[in-house]
Amino acid sequence: MPRPRITGRPVMITGAASGIGRGLAHRLARLGSPVAIADVDEAGLKATAAALPGRVLTRVMDVRDAADQLRFADEVREWLPAPLAAVFNNAGVAVASSVLDASVEDDDWLHDINFHGVVNGTRAFLPILVAQDDGVIVNTSSVFGLVGMPFQSAYCASKFAVRGFTDALRQELRGTGVRAVNVHPGGITTNIARNARVRKDPLGLGRTRDEMAAQFEAVTMTSPEKAAAIIHRGVESGKARVLVGPDAYMFDALARIAPTRYYDVIARIQSRLPARPKESA
Ligand SMILES: NC(=O)c1ccc[n+]([C@@H]2O[C@H](COP(=O)([O-])OP(=O)(O)OC[C@H]3O[C@@H](n4cnc5c(N)ncnc54)[C@H](O)[C@@H]3O)[C@@H](O)[C@H]2O)c1
Repeated sequence: MPRPRITGRPVMITGAASGIGRGLAHRLARLGSPVAIADVDEAGLKATAAALPGRVLTRVMDVRDAADQLRFADEVREWLPAPLAAVFNNAGVAVASSVLDASVEDDDWLHDINFHGVVNGTRAFLPILVAQDDGVIVNTSSVFGLVGMPFQSAYCASKFAVRGFTDALRQELRGTGVRAVNVHPGGITTNIARNARVRKDPLGLGRTRDEMAAQFEAVTMTSPEKAAAIIHRGVESGKARVLVGPDAYMFDALARIAPTRYYDVIARIQSRLPARPKESA
């Protein structure tokens, strides 16, 4: 059976007030999809919606709230002009800290959003797709769901968890019309580092969060618009796993070639990496 396309069909996207989620909303709406978009950031969500052509359902929602995700899924079910093609559980946040200095509160906050938010969204929306026997759950992991990085223990743990959860789901869905896809972005130029929780510079250099964010942004290789295009094309072409950006391919290869020594190589590359000029989308 030919796989139903997602282009032009209804989609749901969390974390759509910024970055990759906003890029996905813009791209898919422009290509004719009715879009249901959710975020905790009401102002950002409104700004995203204002630029979208076609049918849009906006909803202020905290992905940590499982009951509200279920309510939102009911609203989307009512609103749907056609079967739901894709669910993008994309919302996410970051924390930078050593394990020794970790704040339990910050790490719990991150796990609740990055992992439980994805689980909540999957549980709320999967019944719609299963009833249709059609559609795709697209969960955002990271390249940090492929390798462990220093001072990113909570983030890596959450993104490895998303990857494991989604891979397990994919096997459960074998033989059905529903798919589950993991997305592994490399560095994307978004607000994630500026919104990260950082209590002190884990390298001990006294950098502020904004200084650390600027350094992160200087080495990102991919714009959110480009990331959205790669994710869209990957899902559309039936991939089970979408790597986003040239650095994502490098992380993936290193994790396979040198499963216990990849950071030797990554650290060397990081120390030499010049700031890259931003690509245009
Ligand atoms: N930017 C990168 O380099 C990168 C790399 C790998 C993975 N990712 C992942 O991509 C996804 C999107 O991040 P981004 O880079 O676009 O960041 P971003 O900060 O630009 O966007 C994230 C969005 O999620 C929303 N959000 C945060 N907490 C929420 C909550 N509790 N409920 C609902 N919405 C919430 C934010 O308000 C924001 O609009 C995240 O899962 C992130 O971990 C990003």
